[in-house]
Amino acid sequence: MNIHEICNGVYYVGVNDRTTHRFEGLWPLPAGVSYNSYIVKGERVALIDTVHVAQSSKFLNRIGEIIGDAAIDYLVINHMEPDHSGSIEAIKAKYPALKIVGNGKTAAMLKGFYGIGSEDVVTVADGDVIDLGGGKTLKFVFTPMVHWPETMMTYVEQDGVLFSGDAFGCFGALNGGVVDSQMDTTPYYPEMYRYYSNIVAKYGQFVQKAIAKFDGVPIRYVCSTHGPVWHDEIARVVDIYSRMARFEGEPGVVVAYASMYGNTEELAETIAAELSRNGVRNIRIYNLSHSDLSMVLADVMRYSGLIIGGPTYNNGLFPEVERLLSALKSREIKNRYVGCFGSGSWAPVSSKNIKASLDCMKVEQVGEPFDMKCAATGADIEACRSLAAAMAARVNGVVE
Ligand SMILES: Cc1cc2nc3c(=O)[nH]c(=O)nc-3n(C[C@H](O)[C@H](O)[C@H](O)COP(=O)(O)O)c2cc1C
Ligand SMILES: [Fe+2]
Ligand SMILES: [Fe+2]
Repeated sequence: MNIHEICNGVYYVGVNDRTTHRFEGLWPLPAGVSYNSYIVKGERVALIDTVHVAQSSKFLNRIGEIIGDAAIDYLVINHMEPDHSGSIEAIKAKYPALKIVGNGKTAAMLKGFYGIGSEDVVTVADGDVIDLGGGKTLKFVFTPMVHWPETMMTYVEQDGVLFSGDAFGCFGALNGGVVDSQMDTTPYYPEMYRYYSNIVAKYGQFVQKAIAKFDGVPIRYVCSTHGPVWHDEIARVVDIYSRMARFEGEPGVVVAYASMYGNTEELAETIAAELSRNGVRNIRIYNLSHSDLSMVLADVMRYSGLIIGGPTYNNGLFPEVERLLSALKSREIKNRYVGCFGSGSWAPVSSKNIKASLDCMKVEQVGEPFDMKCAATGADIEACRSLAAAMAARVNGVVE
């Protein structure tokens, strides 16, 4: 038996994935990921979201442990991404009479992914309520683009339980406990920055709108689709999500560089040492050819400063530098202090090209871009110093 009752009549029936290497085929999962699903039991039974198709049979067993031979009356689909909708067919096969609850956009995707027609779907509008009897109601609150257009949240007013979909989620499989009060949550916080920056970041304005929609609503449990159920730490988690949604960075600088033979790396090290000398305490240096982009994005989301550098490569940008810039652009990264530097041996173009990319973003460029030729000279070291000093002044809050 593996029953987790979150509060009276609300149960956890999610599963852990410690097998998949990369979420969405892109983002590494060193600590795994959970696909969370929940049961709400009134007189009628509702299942909130499902899990990845690979774990359908385990999922059905979990549900059976809670409801025995009883039926499921409603399957609420807050989000159609297949990490959550993947077991709909297995659920429907076992519980053919259930109705799927979603909005108009959910219905179109149900048809598209699984061939499910409107006769099996209860289509709800923003704010609609379904009464399960037994003092349990489900209220549906539309939160589009957190993280897909059909996304909604489901709220059980009587218990203050919010099923929040991907919002407030993080990477990291669950290790026995489900609710934050049952565990040391420390490892999940870095995974929250990584999850948000990798997957949700582009939709910050929609996350802000969703948070605003619940302003003043009493919430005792935040049940997201990934990671722990939040209870004791709701305020901290909502604060982190709100700050990430506004692209509000903490004082600190990410130095992200590429280097083939170590010369550009020397500039990165010099810049970091100068940042430290200028009082910056949080400095994270990443070799873009070595560190996964996923980790770099997490710290870019966390800290207010970013310095990017790399060698010229066949008359253009070094591929990994280009990849980072493209990731920043597609996430519409904002409110960052950004500087750049580069290198080349005969006709360097790095800093000019990096700057051109940054010019298209809503970031404040700091310091003078520069390129080193071959290996560092005194003038290059001086350029590193002044870039670092300008950056330190901005992230430390010195008004010029
Ligand atoms: C495959 C390759 C392509 C390069 N293309 C250019 C180039 O187009 N223009 C240039 O000025 N330098 C070019 N370089 C030289 C490097 O940008 C230069 O040596 C730089 O200082 C390397 O820094 P590192 O020691 O950090 O790898 C190229 C080097 C390699 C290995
Ligand atoms: Fe999603
Ligand atoms: Fe998800």
